[in-house]
Amino acid sequence: MPIETTVSAVAEVPEGAELLAVPYAADLRPSVEPYVELHLPVADLLAHYEAKGEAGEIVEVPVARAGGIGRVLLYGVGDGSPRALRRAGAALARKVKGRDTLTVVPPEGDVAAFAEAALLAGYTFKIGKEGRKGVRAIEFAGADAEPLRRAEVVAEAVALARDLANMPSSVKHPAWLAERAAEQGLPVRVWDEEQLQAEGFGGILAVGRGSVRPPRLIQLSYVPEQPAERHVVLVGKGITFDSGGLSLKPTENMKTQKTDMAGGAVVIAVLAALARLGAPVRVTGLIAAAENMPSGTAQRPSDVIRHYGGRTVEVLNTDAEGRLVLADALAYADAELDPDAVVDIATLTGAISVALGRNVGAVYASDEDLAAQLLAAGQASDDRLWRMPLIDDYAPALESSIADLANVESGSRYGAGSITAALFLREFAGKRPWAHLDIAGVGRSTVDEGTLTKGATGFGVRVLLEWLTRG
Ligand code: BES
Ligand code: MN
Ligand code: ZN
Repeated sequence: MPIETTVSAVAEVPEGAELLAVPYAADLRPSVEPYVELHLPVADLLAHYEAKGEAGEIVEVPVARAGGIGRVLLYGVGDGSPRALRRAGAALARKVKGRDTLTVVPPEGDVAAFAEAALLAGYTFKIGKEGRKGVRAIEFAGADAEPLRRAEVVAEAVALARDLANMPSSVKHPAWLAERAAEQGLPVRVWDEEQLQAEGFGGILAVGRGSVRPPRLIQLSYVPEQPAERHVVLVGKGITFDSGGLSLKPTENMKTQKTDMAGGAVVIAVLAALARLGAPVRVTGLIAAAENMPSGTAQRPSDVIRHYGGRTVEVLNTDAEGRLVLADALAYADAELDPDAVVDIATLTGAISVALGRNVGAVYASDEDLAAQLLAAGQASDDRLWRMPLIDDYAPALESSIADLANVESGSRYGAGSITAALFLREFAGKRPWAHLDIAGVGRSTVDEGTLTKGATGFGVRVLLEWLTRG
């Protein structure tokens, strides 16, 4: 569902606002004293409630209103950093879910971060029974309109990525994903199974072979109005369901795998937002979409496939399918699109959630500048990244006796499942600056907390938009 909350700037706090939020820090002195409202010294009131001024803290005070009772929500802003303001914004939005209008006296600092977090915290995905929706409108008294508009565009892009990834796989399949991509108002090209065959996309075809719903490669293009200096290609893993294929997953691991196209969803959502944010970079998005299913037509462990560009791979585990579809798209980008940088994003390995857990995404990079830019964008956008090493010593893990490469290590000499997956992708990225984001740990959330909602997170939208529009 698109985000239904709107954010806007108003000149001042309207008379008789039903819900009014006012910031304070550790000194317990709110930025405006709502004396008229409370008839009490606010610092004393906050001290009485043992408030500390931490971000996320809210002290709620009922006040008399013309038509009944209103509330003043005193909200802590912590150290006032963007991170703290995100926490504060999300907490406030959660507090007023289902209400009509929240008037906010904005905090000092990054109001866009605050508003973006408030919007994301109100996201819901429901099929059937209507859920409790976020607050209808948030009005910021005396704020600039521009940062609020940016927050809205970014939050809507995250919501689109969440929506696509939360959709059950009974509904979504590769051609469905291509239709959603085509709705974004950008030039689109879609390869069907015959075109994939004709042009040699053997990885995407092999992974899609087991499904009655055939694979697609989807390309979206954004060209800025001013001539661009850089061309970036984004590649997303678009596995609309990952059963593992004949290397079938156990139930517990399979039931989360409708979100295995989260990387592809991020690429669609980022492309959709670029024009609205006036990004100065030319960006091509590639989504390698397939459904990984077991059947009589499925690829078998031990099959050898031929990727775009001719490289052969021995498929030792059909559940390591993400790297197979990405390899085709990366090889195509390198051979045909002449990019200055390529970034792929994928729910690639369970191993990365062992290494980095559920709050920090992995970035691998062949280029120091690109790595530094993405890390900085991650920090600024709150899609936090940690750089992982491409350890060359582990490359022999992917040697095959009969093909150019194997898709997984056959023994357990090397381990490091996320690193060896990244090394596999590197073989197809060519010599250009390339980065790989493994979002298997952060792509979905088990908690409904802060800016996170249960299910798909849209992780990657904010860091990529930050990088492409400001980096
Ligand atoms: N889609 C999975 C990775 C994944 C796991 C994403 C858990 C989100 C949550 C990927 O295709 C996969 O199955 N990876 C295997 C690789 C292994 C066979 C080398 C894995 O991580 O177990
Ligand atoms: Mn898999
Ligand atoms: Zn997968």
